[in-house]
Amino acid sequence: MPDIAPHAPGAAGAPAAPDAAARIAGIVAARQHMPGALLPILHEIQDTQGFIPDTAVPLIARALNLSRAEVHGVITFYHHFRQQPAGRHVVQVCRAEACQAVGAEALAAHAQRALGCSFHETSPDGQVTLEPVYCLGQCACGPAVMVGEQLHGYVDAARFDTLVRALRASTTTSPANAEAQA
Ligand code: FES
Repeated sequence: MPDIAPHAPGAAGAPAAPDAAARIAGIVAARQHMPGALLPILHEIQDTQGFIPDTAVPLIARALNLSRAEVHGVITFYHHFRQQPAGRHVVQVCRAEACQAVGAEALAAHAQRALGCSFHETSPDGQVTLEPVYCLGQCACGPAVMVGEQLHGYVDAARFDTLVRALRASTTTSPANAEAQA
């Protein structure tokens, strides 16, 4: 399945918080008449809420005159869209060709072991969501990893562990999730 942006989903959905519901309704209303509105709406919901709540699906379907199955199908087709809130931080490991050639698959296996979760999942402590990404524009410095909003090159298993340790020790939340968790 494709990733349309550096990110990804879980199995079952989650509801929106009450104030989030109003915000989602506003996003849908603002964009529903533009051509090809579905993807921009989904992107904006995820950017502001951190994921696409289950409750957004019927709202979007009604506004765009689509079936719920069609909206749900698009959400699940693109790994970029999450159906569950992400962890406090998002770590993306590049799995594209240039990084693969210099050890990205071994790093990907290590990342899953170290975090105790697979790609598109969150570590059991809820701290880190692990996502694959297909090129971070750092092909000459692979394996490349994005930790929150920070790019890192030449990442091996030891460096990955150091980065994750620092992330867990930090008191901040990744900018991508800060708004959603505020
Ligand atoms: S292939 Fe990994 S950064 Fe481009």
